[in-house]
Amino acid sequence: MQKKEIYKCQVCGKVIEILNPGNPETICCGQPMTLMEEQTADWKGEKHVPKITIDGNKVTVDIGVSMGTPHPMTEEHWIMWIELNCKDNCYKRKFLKPGDEPKATFVVASTEGIWAREYCNLHGLWKSS
Ligand SMILES: [Fe+2]
Repeated sequence: MQKKEIYKCQVCGKVIEILNPGNPETICCGQPMTLMEEQTADWKGEKHVPKITIDGNKVTVDIGVSMGTPHPMTEEHWIMWIELNCKDNCYKRKFLKPGDEPKATFVVASTEGIWAREYCNLHGLWKSS
């Protein structure tokens, strides 16, 4: 188990993030929670891989918007959050809701080494390449 891993309960749908790893398995609803792997490549037309655009100290992360096919943002299927990982172990997260644009802008002190993740309620965790 490692810091920042995301786990999902397949029974109740709860999603958690590890802030301080421990040895015992993480149990929910009586069974081990599923580790959500960081996916990095889209397998079909729908876009999931976060795209980063830098403008000075403003970093915009979007899911399909800049490629002309925004990820759906409906009650059944939406991007739950977008996260930006920055220099010096800092990270920022914006939670989204159905109806929002699948996009978030963050202000950072430095754009060195930044990378992004996003979480789709149906298709899981995705990381920028
Ligand atoms: Fe999706």
